[in-house]
Amino acid sequence: MNSGPSSSSHTPAAVRGQAKRRRTFAVISHPDSGKSTLTEALALHARAIGTAGATHGKAGRRSTVSDWMSMEQERGISITSAALQFEYDDVVFNLLDTPGHADFSEDTYRVLSAVDSAVMLVDAAKGLEVQTMKLFEVCKHRGIPIVTVINKWDRAGHEPLALMDEIHERTGMLPTPLTWPVGQSGDFRGVLDRLTGEYTKYTRDSGGASIAGEETFAPEAAQQLEGETWTTAVDEAELLELEEQDHDQEAYLAGRTTPVLFASAVLNFGVHKLLDTLVAIAPAAEPRPDVNEEPRPVDAPFSGFVFKVQAGMDSNHRDRLAYVRVCSGVFERGMVVTHANTGKPFATKYAQQVFGRDREAVDEAFPGDVVGLVNASALGVGDSLYLDRKVVFPGIPTFSPEHFMVIRAKDSSKYKQFRKGIEQLDHEGVIQVLRSDLRGDQAPVLGAVGPMQFEVAEDRMVNEFNAPCELERLNFSIARRTVRDSVPTLSRERNVEVLSRSDGELLALFSDRWRLQGVERAHPDVVLEPLVVS
Ligand code: G4P
Repeated sequence: MNSGPSSSSHTPAAVRGQAKRRRTFAVISHPDSGKSTLTEALALHARAIGTAGATHGKAGRRSTVSDWMSMEQERGISITSAALQFEYDDVVFNLLDTPGHADFSEDTYRVLSAVDSAVMLVDAAKGLEVQTMKLFEVCKHRGIPIVTVINKWDRAGHEPLALMDEIHERTGMLPTPLTWPVGQSGDFRGVLDRLTGEYTKYTRDSGGASIAGEETFAPEAAQQLEGETWTTAVDEAELLELEEQDHDQEAYLAGRTTPVLFASAVLNFGVHKLLDTLVAIAPAAEPRPDVNEEPRPVDAPFSGFVFKVQAGMDSNHRDRLAYVRVCSGVFERGMVVTHANTGKPFATKYAQQVFGRDREAVDEAFPGDVVGLVNASALGVGDSLYLDRKVVFPGIPTFSPEHFMVIRAKDSSKYKQFRKGIEQLDHEGVIQVLRSDLRGDQAPVLGAVGPMQFEVAEDRMVNEFNAPCELERLNFSIARRTVRDSVPTLSRERNVEVLSRSDGELLALFSDRWRLQGVERAHPDVVLEPLVVS
């Protein structure tokens, strides 16, 4: 249905067509499962739009696209998030990078608010790991459908059926393999396609630096080629059929099942199949519900929301960049949109597509795409932008901080810079800033989910805002939401502090859960609620 003018040269039908072509997804995994390797392999198989030949890897290993910050380079971890766009089989993929390190799980959460589906990467030898489980929980909570890829099948690992049991038991999702490995882990010969019954044989070339060779055989030919190994794969696949572990599109979209593929990202085995699978079954960009749960049609005038704000990524581009996920209409460079939170106009003259270091000007973007808006200091995480017809998308909730530090300017003459820096870091969601009359503005408390967030904050205060500071750890590890009426009682308790966060929430901090339980027992009327992530 035509839902009004999209103020662009594209007809509503064309916008709907573009939205349908989009697959906006993230790869979730425990560090070291092969996320960077897979991303690189995906880019190799597809045509990276704009940035031909760009690769994605880990610091110190290859040229990397996500190592903006020197800290990131030193540690070889991915702190910042980039969006990679590529085209394959007439589909436009937007792969949103998520930080692997648990300390930045809040960032990951924000990125996941902007995707339509996820790929869960599992190391065949390690199975489901801590971080995989956490990320999986977030996806489940948000109703994000998941395709599971069992990676590193070229190395000895678990039995495939045992891995399926583990997924089922620990995630509650029924695994529905689309392919089944021919050859045990460590002896990866190819895969049986469960839909067609055919055999895709992989051939290894030098170092896996290029696209792996694939040849497809009918079952009879496969039997002749692989003998017992093929028979085992067929027998196991039959077992899966008996257990009704077959792909069901509706159940996948509802998060009840997870289609499974077997791969070796480093050898480029199975990467093709992953792309084909995402083309065939992953959800496209669909109407996104606003705060009133009313879906904004994809062909409505432009709208989007900020899921990440980033700064100081590159010394040549010392600016602030807001990543916006386009939800409806066409984004056109230069268009002036409305910032829903302030009602003020925002000129998008400097819209860019960011792919690591390389920045490309974006002229147009469609639902599902991600654009980086430059000079976006007015925009905060969760903010909505729109053209013509107002829409406010649900905000992105913040995590419950577990680490707390007081921050002070080292040099009192730099107080102005100090204040500006703190405000900006708060606005970007790098850390949470908590204040109280007692502590005053000179020494606010920073709250973080992981301690490395403090290092990022300190680094930026020094290098970007020219405000050297000192941090002092506070002995709190639990935050609870409270209300004004409860503050007098809580303030009389020892080792409890109430602070107010910039979003207006009042947070009561406790050293540990015993202290919290003690206060709860002593004052059953006091409001102390977990800070829920929804
Ligand atoms: P991450 O982003 O999830 O942290 O993982 P990354 O891609 O960096 O991969 C972690 C390690 O696992 C790398 O080895 C990488 O080469 C290896 N790897 C990734 N996919 C596969 C696979 O399919 N099979 C095998 N056998 N290994 C895989 P590294 O020793 O840390 O680095 P490198 O020197 O080998 O590149």
